[in-house]
Amino acid sequence: MLRTPEREQTEEIVSMKRIGVFTSGGDAPGMNACTRAVVRYALSQGVEVYGIRSGYQGMVDGEIFPMNGSSVSGIIGRGGTILGTARCKAFTTTEGRARAHANLERFAIEGLVGCGGDGTFQGGTLFNAEFGIPMVGVPGTIDNDLFGTDFTIGYDTAVNTAMEAVDKIRDTAESHNRTFFVEVMGRHSGFIALDVAIATGAEFIAVPETATNFEALCSYMEKFPRPKRHIFIISEGDEYGGAQKFADDFKKRFDVDTRVAILGHLQRGGSPSARDRILATRLGTAAVRALLDGETSVMAGEIKGETVLTPMRQTWENRSQLPTELCELVELLR
Ligand code: F6P
Repeated sequence: MLRTPEREQTEEIVSMKRIGVFTSGGDAPGMNACTRAVVRYALSQGVEVYGIRSGYQGMVDGEIFPMNGSSVSGIIGRGGTILGTARCKAFTTTEGRARAHANLERFAIEGLVGCGGDGTFQGGTLFNAEFGIPMVGVPGTIDNDLFGTDFTIGYDTAVNTAMEAVDKIRDTAESHNRTFFVEVMGRHSGFIALDVAIATGAEFIAVPETATNFEALCSYMEKFPRPKRHIFIISEGDEYGGAQKFADDFKKRFDVDTRVAILGHLQRGGSPSARDRILATRLGTAAVRALLDGETSVMAGEIKGETVLTPMRQTWENRSQLPTELCELVELLR
């Protein structure tokens, strides 16, 4: 396993008897495959595993239970997360974290593996600094916006789900000669929008990472003598606005039959793709290995096919760069 250059390799080998596993933040397809890998790999190393329900909320509330090999039977292909997840307000307070720590002590949990996004890692880093409980993170979010990994768990499935939806939208768009503005998820990042736009041959893309030029879209439209069916992909975090705003402004300029489709949370569900199951399995295993090797406050990611540990702080202080040149490709190939 590689470490980022900023992090010194530790020789310390920690003997842990019991670890806790949880999923946190927005759910992502593949989180169950990660939980399965964590539980079964830890057991194979002679370490007991306790599940924590609903992320940090379960830590605060003491919703902690023993898991065994059969607790994770048949879940590798299931969407969602059997552990539950939450965005926990109580854990942002000192009292909440103190309660969480007391509960972990009560269950004799010595280390944590948490699968989630940057909020999960910020909480884990703070918790470790305050109470010394080691935690290793696994990147689980459909947004693919975490520094320290080429892909996050759930991203591949979400892109495929959205691609299939857009393919279906194209069928009806062509039948009715309509223009569709399709909004995909990505509060702060355009990874899903970019891959979906490329994979569906969309004609326009709007993402938070680049300045949106509505006028350029209008000039493109002016080339068409008659209304035509078009597919435009809008990332929910785009600064111009969501798909509805685009469609409303578009209607003011063109006499075109437009429709809006907001794909929303369906992108978060469904059975994980093979890629997500494999990534989750590799990273879940690597996270336990790292924890047992004495690592803490690092995220196990995959870069160029290698498992890499990155200090958690870097996962939110740095941004995962969207290859914006590919946005130009969408327009070049339309
Ligand atoms: O999981 C990430 C994400 O899907 C974002 O793209 C989206 O804005 C957000 O979660 C919505 O999450 P929720 O509805 O759970 O607050």
